Amino acid sequence: SEKVGEFIANYIREKIVNFKPTEEKKHYVLGLPTGSSPLPIYKRLVAMHKEGKLSFKNVITFNMDEYVGLSPEHPFSYHYFMHENLFKYIDIERQNIHILSGVAADAEAECEAYEAAIKRAGGIDLFLGGIGVDGHIAFNEPGSSLASRTRLKTLTRDTIIVNSRFFESVSQVPTKALTVGVGTIMDAKEVVLIVTGHNKAMALYKTVEEGISHMWTASALQMHRHSMIVCDEDATDEL
Ligand code: GLP
Repeated sequence: SEKVGEFIANYIREKIVNFKPTEEKKHYVLGLPTGSSPLPIYKRLVAMHKEGKLSFKNVITFNMDEYVGLSPEHPFSYHYFMHENLFKYIDIERQNIHILSGVAADAEAECEAYEAAIKRAGGIDLFLGGIGVDGHIAFNEPGSSLASRTRLKTLTRDTIIVNSRFFESVSQVPTKALTVGVGTIMDAKEVVLIVTGHNKAMALYKTVEEGISHMWTASALQMHRHSMIVCDEDATDEL
């Protein structure tokens, strides 16, 4: 997973460095995930920034999802995760960071505003994603419409158990999340999926070797014109 991290970090750096801002589009727009898979990538992006090889001044970010009920300051929120693992170390402008609010009074309005903000930014240039053990992308759990947009999703029992490793107990894990939809991800100009570890082997198999299915939502990427899966040896065990 170190090599995967290095490869993707270099790939993203190239994209940002080679981006030519225009009057209509001043920023390179990145979609970002949380979880353990992107950590080696964030570490390298931070290192590149420290070495003066990468600036985020002309980058806008949109995160994939956030737990419902957790405030941005909550140590298990995705806001906090992103701040601690990436944003506090780089030169991105505060107003260019977008993360769905898990404490919005009106979740539906929050999701609609998020889609509108993505549109205003000119769409997402590169959506980086991880994958759940059950093949979910962002929090698009099995059964999600492959045309879905940003919305509220109830998490499956399996996801709650898998993600409880980041919490003190299973009962602390929120049961709902706001998440971009499969359709939102499919609209990105480019998608890069990180798949590492043996526990993702079945998900990778379902993503690439079987038909497109809403039960393994990452399989929708088979229809994307510019998507790339970067995996390690362990993740290929079922291929
Ligand atoms: C969560 C996130 C997903 C992420 C998945 C896998 O469910 N909502 O976006 O891809 O976890 O996480 P990890 O990379 O830790 O395996």
